[in-house]
Amino acid sequence: MTIHIGAEKGEIAETVLLPGDPYRAKWAAETFLDNAKQVNNVRGMLGFTGTWKGNPVSIQGSGMGMPSLSIYANELIRDFGAKTLIRIGSCGGMQDSVNVRDVILAMTSTTLSTPSRGIMKELNFAPCADWGLLQAAAQAAEASGTPTHIGGIYSSDVFYDERPDLNEQMVRHGILGVEMEAAELYILAARHKCRALAVLTVSDHLLTGEALPASDRESSFGDMVEIALRAAFPNAA
Ligand code: HPA
Repeated sequence: MTIHIGAEKGEIAETVLLPGDPYRAKWAAETFLDNAKQVNNVRGMLGFTGTWKGNPVSIQGSGMGMPSLSIYANELIRDFGAKTLIRIGSCGGMQDSVNVRDVILAMTSTTLSTPSRGIMKELNFAPCADWGLLQAAAQAAEASGTPTHIGGIYSSDVFYDERPDLNEQMVRHGILGVEMEAAELYILAARHKCRALAVLTVSDHLLTGEALPASDRESSFGDMVEIALRAAFPNAA
């Protein structure tokens, strides 16, 4: 048990999927895992462990924003031995070529700051995904037929952004989408020699104002969970 995760040692798998929303963790565990058991409910941040095609997997809510994700990812890695951490979440599209419902695999993440800023000091560290996971996710996405983009994203500290000038620069420099967690996940994975990837569904679009209707959210989320699981276990039958 840790401060934020009530699971016993051994109750969390080495492979952990991290949706921001704890109810998405519950839905994904019930939909995709065999023998899913709830292993955390501290602060309602639900976590589950089960198997997918015989492979142990945990699905743990991470909350919104990098400080929240950092708490869960630190405890999962340092106290529970997590080795492969895959964020599954939503993002806002930032290019004309990116459409609502598409999937983005975040190769890198640009930020203004992260919870790790304090140790990086003047260093502009470049948070990047694990290549093996990214490659496997790209193959899984292609096989699934889900329109998928691979490239840089922006991990923002704010949802209600008041700096349109910065977004303009990011659009200009090819950033595919904006979310609020991936950069810190990538930095923590690098620090602790783990593997990390963010698989994101485009839920809304900053340029067009389009948003995914609530009725479509579940199926888009499901496509993303499947890609994440196939990326984690590329040799599963
Ligand atoms: N901004 C930040 N995070 C997000 C967004 C957004 O527009 N959409 C989904 N996650």
